[in-house]
Amino acid sequence: MATSTADKTTVKKTTADWSPDSWRSKPAVQLPVYDNLDELEAVENTLKNYPPLVFAGEARRLKKSLARVAAGEAVLLQGGDCAESFAEFHPRNIRDTFRVILQMAVIMTFAAAMPVVKVGRIAGQFAKPRTDGNETKNGITLPSYKGDIINGPEFTAESRRCDPQRIIKAYNQSAATLNLVRAFANGGYADLHRVNKWTLDFIKSHPLAERYREVTDRLDHALAFMAAAGITSENSPQIREVDFYTSHEALLLPYEQALTRVDSTTGEWYDVSAHFLWIGDRTRQPDGAHVEFLRGVKNPIAFKCGPSLPVDDMLRLIDILNPDNEPGRITLISRMGQDKVAKSLPPLIKAIQNEGRIVTWCCDPMHGNTRTATSGYKTREFDSILSEVRQFFDIHYAEGSYPGGVHFELTGQNVTECVGGAYDITDDNLSERYNTHCDPRLNASQALELAFLIADELSIHYKRRRAEADDAAELKI
Ligand code: PEP
Ligand code: CO
Repeated sequence: MATSTADKTTVKKTTADWSPDSWRSKPAVQLPVYDNLDELEAVENTLKNYPPLVFAGEARRLKKSLARVAAGEAVLLQGGDCAESFAEFHPRNIRDTFRVILQMAVIMTFAAAMPVVKVGRIAGQFAKPRTDGNETKNGITLPSYKGDIINGPEFTAESRRCDPQRIIKAYNQSAATLNLVRAFANGGYADLHRVNKWTLDFIKSHPLAERYREVTDRLDHALAFMAAAGITSENSPQIREVDFYTSHEALLLPYEQALTRVDSTTGEWYDVSAHFLWIGDRTRQPDGAHVEFLRGVKNPIAFKCGPSLPVDDMLRLIDILNPDNEPGRITLISRMGQDKVAKSLPPLIKAIQNEGRIVTWCCDPMHGNTRTATSGYKTREFDSILSEVRQFFDIHYAEGSYPGGVHFELTGQNVTECVGGAYDITDDNLSERYNTHCDPRLNASQALELAFLIADELSIHYKRRRAEADDAAELKI
Protein backbone atom coordinates (compact mmCIF):
# COMPACT_ATOMS: atom_id res chain seq x y z
CA MET A 1 0.00 0.00 0.00
CA ALA A 2 1.44 3.38 -0.97
CA THR A 3 0.09 5.32 1.98
CA SER A 4 0.21 4.70 5.69
CA THR A 5 -0.49 6.53 8.92
CA ALA A 6 1.90 9.11 10.32
CA ASP A 7 2.94 7.02 13.31
CA LYS A 8 4.29 4.26 11.07
CA THR A 9 6.17 6.38 8.55
CA THR A 10 8.80 9.04 9.00
CA VAL A 11 7.58 12.43 7.93
CA LYS A 12 10.37 13.75 5.74
CA LYS A 13 9.06 16.99 4.37
CA THR A 14 6.45 19.09 6.09
CA THR A 15 5.54 22.57 4.96
CA ALA A 16 6.80 25.11 7.51
CA ASP A 17 4.63 25.43 10.65
CA TRP A 18 2.02 23.14 9.21
CA SER A 19 0.40 20.04 10.64
CA PRO A 20 -2.84 18.29 9.69
CA ASP A 21 -4.57 20.08 12.57
CA SER A 22 -2.94 23.53 12.26
CA TRP A 23 -6.17 24.79 10.63
CA ARG A 24 -7.82 24.53 14.03
CA SER A 25 -6.13 27.71 15.26
CA LYS A 26 -7.35 29.76 12.27
CA PRO A 27 -10.68 31.50 11.76
CA ALA A 28 -13.02 29.05 10.04
CA VAL A 29 -16.19 29.91 8.17
CA GLN A 30 -18.89 27.50 7.00
CA LEU A 31 -17.91 24.70 9.41
CA PRO A 32 -20.86 22.99 11.13
CA VAL A 33 -21.41 23.44 14.85
CA TYR A 34 -21.80 20.03 16.49
CA ASP A 35 -23.58 19.85 19.82
CA ASN A 36 -21.70 16.72 20.94
CA LEU A 37 -17.95 17.26 20.51
CA ASP A 38 -17.04 13.93 22.16
CA GLU A 39 -19.09 12.12 19.56
CA LEU A 40 -17.39 14.08 16.78
CA GLU A 41 -13.95 13.21 18.17
CA ALA A 42 -14.87 9.53 18.41
CA VAL A 43 -15.93 9.60 14.74
CA GLU A 44 -12.68 11.33 13.74
CA ASN A 45 -10.66 8.68 15.61
CA THR A 46 -12.57 5.90 13.88
CA LEU A 47 -11.99 7.49 10.48
CA LYS A 48 -8.26 7.90 11.16
CA ASN A 49 -7.96 4.10 11.10
CA TYR A 50 -9.98 3.61 7.93
CA PRO A 51 -8.20 2.87 4.63
CA PRO A 52 -7.26 5.71 2.28
CA LEU A 53 -9.76 6.21 -0.54
CA VAL A 54 -7.04 7.13 -3.04
CA PHE A 55 -3.30 6.66 -3.22
CA ALA A 56 -0.73 9.44 -3.14
CA GLY A 57 0.85 8.10 -6.34
CA GLU A 58 -2.47 8.57 -8.16
CA ALA A 59 -2.70 12.17 -6.94
CA ARG A 60 0.84 12.76 -8.22
CA ARG A 61 -0.12 11.33 -11.61
CA LEU A 62 -3.09 13.70 -11.78
CA LYS A 63 -0.81 16.61 -10.86
CA LYS A 64 1.41 15.74 -13.82
CA SER A 65 -1.62 15.63 -16.11
CA LEU A 66 -2.82 19.00 -14.81
CA ALA A 67 0.66 20.39 -15.48
CA ARG A 68 0.15 19.33 -19.08
CA VAL A 69 -3.14 21.23 -19.10
CA ALA A 70 -1.36 24.31 -17.73
CA ALA A 71 1.13 23.99 -20.59
CA GLY A 72 -1.66 23.90 -23.21
CA GLU A 73 -1.08 20.23 -24.03
CA ALA A 74 -4.23 18.72 -22.52
CA VAL A 75 -7.77 19.66 -21.49
CA LEU A 76 -9.44 19.32 -18.07
CA LEU A 77 -13.01 18.07 -17.77
CA GLN A 78 -14.44 18.10 -14.25
CA GLY A 79 -18.05 17.29 -13.49
CA GLY A 80 -20.65 15.61 -11.33
CA ASP A 81 -23.27 16.33 -8.72
CA CYS A 82 -23.48 19.60 -6.87
CA ALA A 83 -24.04 17.45 -3.80
CA GLU A 84 -23.95 13.68 -3.63
CA SER A 85 -26.71 12.34 -1.41
CA PHE A 86 -27.54 9.26 0.59
CA ALA A 87 -31.00 9.03 -1.02
CA GLU A 88 -29.69 9.05 -4.61
CA PHE A 89 -26.96 6.48 -3.92
CA HIS A 90 -27.49 3.84 -6.60
CA PRO A 91 -25.14 2.07 -9.04
CA ARG A 92 -27.31 3.29 -11.92
CA ASN A 93 -26.74 6.93 -10.98
CA ILE A 94 -22.99 6.42 -10.63
CA ARG A 95 -22.86 4.58 -13.96
CA ASP A 96 -24.86 7.22 -15.81
CA THR A 97 -22.79 10.14 -14.50
CA PHE A 98 -19.57 8.30 -15.30
CA ARG A 99 -20.90 7.51 -18.76
CA VAL A 100 -21.86 11.06 -19.68
CA ILE A 101 -18.49 12.39 -18.51
CA LEU A 102 -16.74 9.82 -20.71
CA GLN A 103 -18.91 10.72 -23.69
CA MET A 104 -18.13 14.40 -23.23
CA ALA A 105 -14.44 13.57 -22.88
CA VAL A 106 -14.35 11.61 -26.13
CA ILE A 107 -16.04 14.43 -28.07
CA MET A 108 -13.60 16.94 -26.57
CA THR A 109 -10.54 14.73 -27.12
CA PHE A 110 -11.45 14.38 -30.77
CA ALA A 111 -11.93 18.12 -31.28
CA ALA A 112 -8.82 19.18 -29.38
CA ALA A 113 -6.65 16.28 -30.56
CA MET A 114 -5.26 16.33 -27.04
CA PRO A 115 -5.77 14.18 -23.93
CA VAL A 116 -8.74 15.11 -21.76
CA VAL A 117 -8.09 14.76 -18.03
CA LYS A 118 -11.28 13.37 -16.49
CA VAL A 119 -12.16 14.34 -12.92
CA GLY A 120 -15.50 13.57 -11.24
CA ARG A 121 -17.20 15.60 -8.54
CA ILE A 122 -17.81 12.22 -6.99
CA ALA A 123 -16.99 9.85 -4.11
CA GLY A 124 -16.82 12.61 -1.49
CA GLN A 125 -18.71 15.68 -2.79
CA PHE A 126 -21.05 15.86 0.19
CA ALA A 127 -20.44 19.05 2.19
CA LYS A 128 -22.02 22.32 1.03
CA PRO A 129 -21.24 25.91 1.95
CA ARG A 130 -24.40 28.00 2.34
CA THR A 131 -24.90 31.71 1.82
CA ASP A 132 -27.53 31.75 4.58
CA GLY A 133 -26.84 29.75 7.72
CA ASN A 134 -30.58 29.47 8.44
CA GLU A 135 -33.71 28.77 6.44
CA THR A 136 -37.16 30.08 7.33
CA LYS A 137 -40.41 28.46 6.18
CA ASN A 138 -43.89 29.40 7.39
CA GLY A 139 -42.43 31.38 10.27
CA ILE A 140 -40.16 28.54 11.45
CA THR A 141 -36.38 29.05 11.28
CA LEU A 142 -33.97 26.08 11.21
CA PRO A 143 -30.28 25.66 10.30
CA SER A 144 -29.78 25.34 6.53
CA TYR A 145 -29.12 21.99 4.91
CA LYS A 146 -25.32 21.67 4.57
CA GLY A 147 -24.98 18.41 2.67
CA ASP A 148 -25.64 14.80 3.67
CA ILE A 149 -22.26 14.43 5.41
CA ILE A 150 -23.42 17.11 7.90
CA ASN A 151 -27.23 17.14 8.24
CA GLY A 152 -30.41 16.16 6.39
CA PRO A 153 -32.43 18.05 3.76
CA GLU A 154 -35.84 17.51 5.44
CA PHE A 155 -37.16 20.66 7.09
CA THR A 156 -37.31 19.33 10.67
CA ALA A 157 -35.21 20.21 13.70
CA GLU A 158 -34.03 16.60 14.03
CA SER A 159 -32.95 16.34 10.39
CA ARG A 160 -31.16 19.71 10.41
CA ARG A 161 -29.11 18.79 13.50
CA CYS A 162 -25.42 18.29 12.61
CA ASP A 163 -24.87 14.58 13.18
CA PRO A 164 -21.24 13.27 13.30
CA GLN A 165 -22.37 9.72 12.41
CA ARG A 166 -23.17 11.00 8.92
CA ILE A 167 -19.41 11.37 8.35
CA ILE A 168 -18.92 7.60 8.60
CA LYS A 169 -21.85 6.98 6.27
CA ALA A 170 -20.44 9.44 3.71
CA TYR A 171 -17.02 7.76 3.90
CA ASN A 172 -18.58 4.35 3.29
CA GLN A 173 -20.64 5.63 0.38
CA SER A 174 -17.53 7.27 -1.09
CA ALA A 175 -15.59 4.00 -0.78
CA ALA A 176 -18.36 2.01 -2.50
CA THR A 177 -18.75 4.67 -5.22
CA LEU A 178 -15.04 4.74 -5.90
CA ASN A 179 -14.93 0.95 -6.05
CA LEU A 180 -17.54 0.97 -8.80
CA VAL A 181 -15.91 3.86 -10.65
CA ARG A 182 -12.57 2.05 -10.64
CA ALA A 183 -14.27 -1.08 -12.00
CA PHE A 184 -15.97 0.94 -14.75
CA ALA A 185 -12.71 2.71 -15.64
CA ASN A 186 -10.60 -0.43 -15.87
CA GLY A 187 -13.00 -3.32 -16.39
CA GLY A 188 -13.97 -2.79 -20.04
CA TYR A 189 -17.02 -0.56 -19.56
CA ALA A 190 -15.09 2.53 -20.65
CA ASP A 191 -13.94 1.04 -23.96
CA LEU A 192 -13.71 3.80 -26.55
CA HIS A 193 -15.84 1.86 -29.08
CA ARG A 194 -18.56 1.48 -26.51
CA VAL A 195 -18.49 5.16 -25.55
CA ASN A 196 -18.68 6.09 -29.22
CA LYS A 197 -21.65 3.75 -29.74
CA TRP A 198 -23.57 5.43 -26.88
CA THR A 199 -22.99 8.79 -28.51
CA LEU A 200 -24.09 7.51 -31.92
CA ASP A 201 -27.29 6.16 -30.33
CA PHE A 202 -27.86 9.45 -28.51
CA ILE A 203 -27.46 11.38 -31.75
CA LYS A 204 -30.01 9.26 -33.66
CA SER A 205 -33.05 10.68 -31.90
CA HIS A 206 -31.63 14.10 -31.04
CA PRO A 207 -33.32 17.26 -32.38
CA LEU A 208 -29.92 18.66 -33.36
CA ALA A 209 -28.64 15.39 -34.86
CA GLU A 210 -27.69 16.99 -38.18
CA ARG A 211 -25.52 19.54 -36.47
CA TYR A 212 -23.59 16.98 -34.42
CA ARG A 213 -23.48 14.06 -36.83
CA GLU A 214 -20.39 15.30 -38.63
CA VAL A 215 -18.31 14.92 -35.45
CA THR A 216 -19.70 11.49 -34.52
CA ASP A 217 -19.29 10.16 -38.06
CA ARG A 218 -15.69 11.36 -38.25
CA LEU A 219 -14.96 9.87 -34.85
CA ASP A 220 -16.51 6.57 -35.89
CA HIS A 221 -14.39 6.59 -39.01
CA ALA A 222 -11.23 7.32 -37.01
CA LEU A 223 -11.91 4.33 -34.76
CA ALA A 224 -12.51 2.09 -37.78
CA PHE A 225 -9.24 3.33 -39.27
CA MET A 226 -7.36 2.57 -36.06
CA ALA A 227 -8.87 -0.93 -35.92
CA ALA A 228 -7.84 -1.50 -39.53
CA ALA A 229 -4.32 -0.44 -38.59
CA GLY A 230 -4.33 -3.03 -35.78
CA ILE A 231 -5.03 -0.76 -32.79
CA THR A 232 -7.86 -2.52 -30.97
CA SER A 233 -9.33 -2.94 -27.48
CA GLU A 234 -7.64 -6.34 -27.23
CA ASN A 235 -4.12 -5.06 -27.79
CA SER A 236 -4.32 -1.45 -26.53
CA PRO A 237 -5.22 -0.57 -22.93
CA GLN A 238 -5.53 3.08 -24.07
CA ILE A 239 -8.67 2.06 -26.00
CA ARG A 240 -10.03 -0.19 -23.25
CA GLU A 241 -9.37 1.79 -20.07
CA VAL A 242 -9.44 5.36 -18.78
CA ASP A 243 -7.84 7.32 -15.96
CA PHE A 244 -10.66 8.77 -13.92
CA TYR A 245 -9.97 10.91 -10.87
CA THR A 246 -12.10 12.06 -7.94
CA SER A 247 -12.55 15.53 -6.48
CA HIS A 248 -14.64 17.49 -4.01
CA GLU A 249 -14.71 20.75 -2.10
CA ALA A 250 -12.50 20.37 0.99
CA LEU A 251 -15.07 22.02 3.24
CA LEU A 252 -15.57 19.69 6.19
CA LEU A 253 -12.08 19.91 7.67
CA PRO A 254 -12.51 17.30 10.45
CA TYR A 255 -13.24 14.74 7.69
CA GLU A 256 -10.32 15.90 5.54
CA GLN A 257 -7.91 15.90 8.47
CA ALA A 258 -8.88 12.36 9.50
CA LEU A 259 -8.08 11.20 5.96
CA THR A 260 -4.75 13.00 5.74
CA ARG A 261 -1.85 10.58 5.84
CA VAL A 262 1.88 10.45 5.22
CA ASP A 263 2.78 8.83 1.92
CA SER A 264 5.32 6.10 2.62
CA THR A 265 7.19 6.60 -0.66
CA THR A 266 7.84 10.35 -0.34
CA GLY A 267 7.25 11.07 3.35
CA GLU A 268 4.85 13.84 2.35
CA TRP A 269 1.32 14.53 3.54
CA TYR A 270 -1.59 13.73 1.22
CA ASP A 271 -5.29 14.13 1.75
CA VAL A 272 -6.39 10.66 0.65
CA SER A 273 -10.13 11.47 0.62
CA ALA A 274 -9.81 12.36 -3.11
CA HIS A 275 -7.20 12.98 -5.76
CA PHE A 276 -8.09 16.65 -6.24
CA LEU A 277 -9.51 19.06 -3.63
CA TRP A 278 -10.76 22.57 -4.05
CA ILE A 279 -11.46 25.57 -1.83
CA GLY A 280 -14.87 27.14 -2.42
CA ASP A 281 -15.58 30.79 -3.19
CA ARG A 282 -16.87 31.31 0.36
CA THR A 283 -13.93 29.72 2.20
CA ARG A 284 -10.91 31.13 0.38
CA GLN A 285 -9.85 33.70 3.02
CA PRO A 286 -6.00 33.77 2.84
CA ASP A 287 -5.75 33.65 6.67
CA GLY A 288 -8.58 31.17 7.08
CA ALA A 289 -8.72 27.53 8.13
CA HIS A 290 -9.45 26.04 4.69
CA VAL A 291 -6.45 27.66 3.05
CA GLU A 292 -4.27 26.65 6.01
CA PHE A 293 -5.33 23.02 5.70
CA LEU A 294 -4.77 22.67 1.95
CA ARG A 295 -1.44 24.50 2.11
CA GLY A 296 0.19 21.44 3.67
CA VAL A 297 -1.13 18.54 1.60
CA LYS A 298 0.63 17.70 -1.64
CA ASN A 299 -2.41 16.82 -3.76
CA PRO A 300 -3.22 18.97 -6.76
CA ILE A 301 -5.64 21.60 -5.45
CA ALA A 302 -7.83 24.39 -6.77
CA PHE A 303 -9.63 27.45 -5.55
CA LYS A 304 -12.73 29.06 -6.96
CA CYS A 305 -12.37 32.57 -8.37
CA GLY A 306 -15.63 34.50 -8.14
CA PRO A 307 -16.19 38.13 -9.15
CA SER A 308 -15.42 39.31 -5.60
CA LEU A 309 -11.84 37.93 -5.66
CA PRO A 310 -9.32 40.80 -5.66
CA VAL A 311 -6.23 40.28 -7.83
CA ASP A 312 -4.00 40.71 -4.77
CA ASP A 313 -5.85 38.00 -2.86
CA MET A 314 -5.50 35.65 -5.80
CA LEU A 315 -1.75 36.19 -5.89
CA ARG A 316 -1.48 35.88 -2.13
CA LEU A 317 -3.40 32.62 -2.21
CA ILE A 318 -1.07 31.27 -4.86
CA ASP A 319 1.96 32.36 -2.80
CA ILE A 320 0.60 30.47 0.19
CA LEU A 321 -0.61 27.39 -1.64
CA ASN A 322 2.10 27.02 -4.26
CA PRO A 323 5.24 28.82 -3.08
CA ASP A 324 7.48 26.78 -5.43
CA ASN A 325 5.37 27.54 -8.52
CA GLU A 326 5.01 23.82 -9.13
CA PRO A 327 3.15 23.10 -12.40
CA GLY A 328 -0.12 21.19 -11.88
CA ARG A 329 -0.40 22.11 -8.21
CA ILE A 330 -2.91 24.97 -8.64
CA THR A 331 -6.02 25.12 -10.74
CA LEU A 332 -7.98 28.37 -10.80
CA ILE A 333 -11.67 27.65 -11.26
CA SER A 334 -13.23 30.83 -12.61
CA ARG A 335 -16.98 31.13 -11.78
CA MET A 336 -17.81 34.72 -12.58
CA GLY A 337 -21.25 34.63 -14.20
CA GLN A 338 -21.89 35.32 -17.86
CA ASP A 339 -22.58 39.02 -17.20
CA LYS A 340 -19.39 39.59 -15.16
CA VAL A 341 -16.74 37.38 -16.75
CA ALA A 342 -15.73 39.92 -19.41
CA LYS A 343 -14.88 42.46 -16.71
CA SER A 344 -13.62 40.25 -13.88
CA LEU A 345 -11.49 37.62 -15.63
CA PRO A 346 -8.97 39.62 -17.73
CA PRO A 347 -7.28 41.32 -14.72
CA LEU A 348 -6.74 37.92 -13.11
CA ILE A 349 -5.25 36.45 -16.30
CA LYS A 350 -2.98 39.47 -16.77
CA ALA A 351 -1.71 39.27 -13.18
CA ILE A 352 -0.92 35.56 -13.59
CA GLN A 353 1.02 36.33 -16.76
CA ASN A 354 2.85 39.36 -15.31
CA GLU A 355 3.87 37.47 -12.20
CA GLY A 356 4.92 34.36 -14.12
CA ARG A 357 2.68 32.00 -12.10
CA ILE A 358 1.99 28.58 -13.53
CA VAL A 359 -1.69 27.73 -13.12
CA THR A 360 -4.26 25.54 -14.79
CA TRP A 361 -7.31 27.58 -15.77
CA CYS A 362 -10.76 26.08 -15.61
CA CYS A 363 -14.23 27.55 -16.22
CA ASP A 364 -17.15 26.74 -13.91
CA PRO A 365 -20.08 28.33 -15.77
CA MET A 366 -22.61 27.05 -13.21
CA HIS A 367 -22.15 28.95 -9.95
CA GLY A 368 -22.30 32.50 -11.31
CA ASN A 369 -25.43 31.79 -13.35
CA THR A 370 -28.05 30.63 -10.87
CA ARG A 371 -31.48 32.26 -10.66
CA THR A 372 -34.72 31.48 -8.85
CA ALA A 373 -37.72 30.71 -11.06
CA THR A 374 -41.11 32.15 -10.09
CA SER A 375 -42.07 28.64 -8.96
CA GLY A 376 -39.29 28.91 -6.35
CA TYR A 377 -36.94 26.39 -7.99
CA LYS A 378 -33.29 27.37 -8.36
CA THR A 379 -32.32 27.00 -11.99
CA ARG A 380 -29.72 27.90 -14.62
CA GLU A 381 -30.15 28.76 -18.29
CA PHE A 382 -28.34 26.56 -20.79
CA ASP A 383 -27.58 29.67 -22.84
CA SER A 384 -26.02 31.53 -19.89
CA ILE A 385 -23.82 28.51 -19.17
CA LEU A 386 -22.75 28.34 -22.80
CA SER A 387 -22.20 32.08 -22.93
CA GLU A 388 -19.84 32.03 -19.94
CA VAL A 389 -17.85 29.13 -21.42
CA ARG A 390 -17.53 30.88 -24.78
CA GLN A 391 -16.47 34.15 -23.19
CA PHE A 392 -13.95 32.30 -21.02
CA PHE A 393 -12.35 30.74 -24.12
CA ASP A 394 -12.42 33.99 -26.10
CA ILE A 395 -10.91 36.03 -23.27
CA HIS A 396 -8.08 33.54 -22.79
CA TYR A 397 -7.31 33.38 -26.50
CA ALA A 398 -7.36 37.20 -26.69
CA GLU A 399 -4.93 37.47 -23.74
CA GLY A 400 -2.63 34.81 -25.18
CA SER A 401 -3.50 32.50 -22.30
CA TYR A 402 -4.70 28.89 -22.44
CA PRO A 403 -8.30 28.15 -21.31
CA GLY A 404 -7.43 24.78 -19.77
CA GLY A 405 -10.78 23.23 -18.98
CA VAL A 406 -14.35 23.20 -17.82
CA HIS A 407 -16.20 22.30 -14.62
CA PHE A 408 -19.89 21.35 -14.63
CA GLU A 409 -22.61 20.28 -12.27
CA LEU A 410 -24.23 17.46 -14.19
CA THR A 411 -25.91 14.11 -13.88
CA GLY A 412 -26.46 11.22 -16.25
CA GLN A 413 -30.16 11.22 -15.29
CA ASN A 414 -32.89 12.83 -17.33
CA VAL A 415 -33.62 15.55 -14.77
CA THR A 416 -35.33 18.91 -15.35
CA GLU A 417 -33.21 21.27 -13.29
CA CYS A 418 -31.53 23.60 -15.82
CA VAL A 419 -33.70 25.28 -18.47
CA GLY A 420 -33.02 25.42 -22.21
CA GLY A 421 -31.01 23.07 -24.41
CA ALA A 422 -32.23 21.19 -27.48
CA TYR A 423 -35.28 19.79 -25.65
CA ASP A 424 -36.12 23.30 -24.52
CA ILE A 425 -36.88 22.71 -20.85
CA THR A 426 -38.81 25.67 -19.49
CA ASP A 427 -39.53 27.04 -16.01
CA ASP A 428 -42.85 25.16 -16.16
CA ASN A 429 -41.03 21.82 -16.59
CA LEU A 430 -38.80 22.26 -13.54
CA SER A 431 -41.13 20.47 -11.12
CA GLU A 432 -41.25 17.32 -13.31
CA ARG A 433 -37.92 15.77 -12.34
CA TYR A 434 -36.17 18.19 -10.00
CA ASN A 435 -34.05 15.80 -7.90
CA THR A 436 -30.96 17.75 -6.88
CA HIS A 437 -30.17 18.17 -3.20
CA CYS A 438 -28.53 21.50 -3.82
CA ASP A 439 -27.83 23.29 -7.13
CA PRO A 440 -29.48 22.53 -10.51
CA ARG A 441 -27.50 20.15 -12.73
CA LEU A 442 -27.28 19.71 -16.49
CA ASN A 443 -29.00 16.50 -17.58
CA ALA A 444 -27.23 14.00 -19.87
CA SER A 445 -28.58 15.57 -23.05
CA GLN A 446 -27.67 19.13 -22.04
CA ALA A 447 -24.20 17.99 -20.95
CA LEU A 448 -23.51 16.28 -24.28
CA GLU A 449 -24.80 19.24 -26.21
CA LEU A 450 -22.38 21.45 -24.32
CA ALA A 451 -19.54 19.07 -25.10
CA PHE A 452 -20.29 19.41 -28.82
CA LEU A 453 -20.36 23.19 -28.55
CA ILE A 454 -17.15 23.28 -26.50
CA ALA A 455 -15.59 21.05 -29.16
CA ASP A 456 -15.92 24.00 -31.55
CA GLU A 457 -13.93 26.20 -29.15
CA LEU A 458 -11.28 23.53 -28.65
CA SER A 459 -10.76 23.05 -32.35
CA ILE A 460 -9.62 26.71 -32.50
CA HIS A 461 -6.70 25.78 -30.25
CA TYR A 462 -6.03 22.67 -32.33
CA LYS A 463 -5.89 24.70 -35.56
CA ARG A 464 -3.58 27.23 -33.94
CA ARG A 465 -1.22 24.50 -32.72
CA ARG A 466 -1.18 22.95 -36.18
CA ALA A 467 -0.39 26.31 -37.78
CA GLU A 468 2.43 26.93 -35.28
CA ALA A 469 3.87 23.48 -35.94
CA ASP A 470 3.73 24.11 -39.71
CA ASP A 471 5.47 27.49 -39.29
CA ALA A 472 8.18 25.88 -37.14
CA ALA A 473 8.69 23.13 -39.74
CA GLU A 474 9.01 25.71 -42.51
CA LEU A 475 11.60 27.66 -40.53
CA LYS A 476 13.71 24.50 -40.18
CA ILE A 477 13.61 23.90 -43.92
C1 PEP B 1 -19.83 24.25 -5.69
O1 PEP B 1 -18.90 24.02 -6.50
O2 PEP B 1 -20.76 23.48 -5.48
C2 PEP B 1 -19.85 25.58 -5.03
C3 PEP B 1 -20.52 25.78 -3.91
O3 PEP B 1 -19.15 26.50 -5.70
P1 PEP B 1 -18.66 27.98 -5.29
O4 PEP B 1 -17.77 27.80 -4.10
O5 PEP B 1 -17.95 28.41 -6.51
O6 PEP B 1 -19.90 28.78 -5.01
CO1 CO C 1 -23.11 23.78 -6.59
